[in-house]
Amino acid sequence: MKRILLFILPILFLVTAVFAGFGLIQASFEEERLIDDLKKKAKAVNESMELSARHIFLENDLKAAYRLVESFQKRDRTQGCVIYDKEGKILAITERISDWRDKDKPYLSDILASKSPRGTLEKFREYSVYSYILPVTDDNEDVIGAIEVIYDTSYVFTILTQLWKRISASLIVLLLFIVIITLLIQRQIFILPVRRLTQWFTHFQRGEIDKLRPFKENGEFGKLITEVEQVALGLRVARKVVSDNANARIQREDTWTEAKLKDLVHARLGENAFFVVSNREPYMHIIDEATGSQKCIRPASGVVTAIDPILRACGGTWIAHGSTKTDRNFVNSKNKLGVPTEDNRYILKRVWLTKEEEEGYYYGFSNEGLWPLCHVTHTRPIFRETDWQMYKKVNQKFAENVLEELPAKDPFVFIQDYHFTMLPKMIKEKRPDATIALFWHIPWPNPEVFAICPYHQEILDGMFGCDLIGFHVQNHCNNFLDTANRLTECRVDTEKFSVVRKNRETFIRSFPISVGGYMSGNSTQFDENEINKIKKEFKLQDKIIGVGVERIDYTKGIIERILAIDRFFEKYPEYRNKLVFLQLAAPSRTHIKRYHELIGEIDELIEKKNWKYSDGDWKPIVYLKRYFSSEEIRPYYALADFCIVSSLHDGMNLVAKEYVASKKDSSGALILSKFTGAARELTDAVLINPYSIEEFADAIKFTVDMPDEEKRKRMENMRKVVLENNVYKWAGSLITELTSLKKV
Ligand code: G6P
Repeated sequence: MKRILLFILPILFLVTAVFAGFGLIQASFEEERLIDDLKKKAKAVNESMELSARHIFLENDLKAAYRLVESFQKRDRTQGCVIYDKEGKILAITERISDWRDKDKPYLSDILASKSPRGTLEKFREYSVYSYILPVTDDNEDVIGAIEVIYDTSYVFTILTQLWKRISASLIVLLLFIVIITLLIQRQIFILPVRRLTQWFTHFQRGEIDKLRPFKENGEFGKLITEVEQVALGLRVARKVVSDNANARIQREDTWTEAKLKDLVHARLGENAFFVVSNREPYMHIIDEATGSQKCIRPASGVVTAIDPILRACGGTWIAHGSTKTDRNFVNSKNKLGVPTEDNRYILKRVWLTKEEEEGYYYGFSNEGLWPLCHVTHTRPIFRETDWQMYKKVNQKFAENVLEELPAKDPFVFIQDYHFTMLPKMIKEKRPDATIALFWHIPWPNPEVFAICPYHQEILDGMFGCDLIGFHVQNHCNNFLDTANRLTECRVDTEKFSVVRKNRETFIRSFPISVGGYMSGNSTQFDENEINKIKKEFKLQDKIIGVGVERIDYTKGIIERILAIDRFFEKYPEYRNKLVFLQLAAPSRTHIKRYHELIGEIDELIEKKNWKYSDGDWKPIVYLKRYFSSEEIRPYYALADFCIVSSLHDGMNLVAKEYVASKKDSSGALILSKFTGAARELTDAVLINPYSIEEFADAIKFTVDMPDEEKRKRMENMRKVVLENNVYKWAGSLITELTSLKKV
């Protein structure tokens, strides 16, 4: 638009200036002509009255004088007539201009003396008038008086105004004409070819190769198009070569790395685009409370920990809820941005939700309903009809956002978690060609528990829109198959591990999720400095240090952990003053009453236990209640002699794996709840039942007393498991499974 204005405005200015100049000339000619006419007319009228006037003066016939001036009373345009005697005194004047009498007329004596007529424009009342004075002489050429005719000139201005109106109207029509013609030309020579090029690019991007038509454009534009076509062709060929090379490399390499995953994605997905959908966004823009400036953080979330390294490795688009006000400042017109912000590896598309939507869908149905339902930690699930309606509405909103992005052919959509059970069906209905996988990051309960949810039929139906549903452990897969079998009309194929419903088959598989980033990062001097700083700040020199890292959530067993630490110091007082437990805890879902209460309960309990045991500088628990970035957590893992993960129930728990992966020197030990998915793999951890405080306290003692050699051996074994079964392998197996469902 700006460009069009830049082009069109000078033309419009020029045309207006030419028109105005031309109008001025025409108006001044017209004015001159009209005044000239008036002069001639006044002169003629005056001269025609000369004889009668002479008679009036010679006979001193005042009656005839009155008659003469009154004959002007009714004339059109003519204002009137005045008869002067030879002294310049008024003998008679038309009544309607009687106040002309008062006008000062210094020129009159000159006219009478010089015997020359005079025509001039004069001001009378608020008008401009034309006055023509004719001296009248007798036979001896002596002046005997004068007659003056006064004409109203306002009609001249009326005619000129009309003329200007006509000129302006023609100018407007001409300008409109110019604008229309310019826009049409602009559209023809610029917009249409650019639009065709854009469409061509869109088809190319979406992989709609059959819709690409060769361009036939001449001149500079044609040259540009040829260049673009060459680049596009090069890109396609390059993609094919990358895909072939990638295939070859996958065959050669054993351990899963970021590079191997990248190869797999290129080999298996080729040109097919990859989309991730989750509620939590991987990068969140917030206002730093300390500095007041805007900054980007990675939220504390298992989903983010797992999926971000994958998209970093293979690119794609991640669609998630833009949950902060500041988020809006960082997106383009399509609500997208490149992330990570410092090194754009993939696209994040933010979906905006209203407060009511967030309340019903996220806080309500997802986290007060499905979350406690699936975790079975004896927190009562709450199902409200209004939340359910909002949950479906938000799933629909996400479906529209995903559908908008999908390319023409065979896209892959990878949905995360319990926030989006309806999304698979909504996408599948519109795009049956899309391959859809959903990964359930939390546990799946048995059918009796799941049937508590009043909407279980619709939820399962929504999930059957998937081609593949993944869980962390086989037990959750079995629970899901049981649930499908018992609560819906479907056929469960126990050989293939699939559910067939309405002629659609959904495969159920376990993929134990893991971590990735910790493998490549190396322990740096920076870590050492940080470690020393923390030790100094919390007076940890020469202390045995334990660490716990989580979101404040009732499923994480934080209360049980504090009680176990209390029991440990009660039972084994020799460790007082020698052991400190660092609890890093990020407040989470704080609008939910249960979470709000939990924060208070933990504060109170820690306060109580610290008071009970504190001795001089020493207190048993250092409680750091705030959000910690993964970089900030790193030194805490490094300095900890042991880490406690005491979830009452957890799909996997990545803190356990992160801690193990971060221990590059194979030091440290892990105390791990039996009720986490991680416990199936990390069998060398000290496994506990967090509900049994006595057993838990003894496990702490056992871990602390464990000989270094055994600790090292256990850690080495666990590291082997985590490093081999890393997140790249998780994603690799998932993508392999997904692509083998649909031969691409
Ligand atoms: C669990 C869920 C994730 C979620 C995370 C954080 O790990 O499985 O989907 O990202 O909790 O929860 P939040 O509600 O803060 O996203």
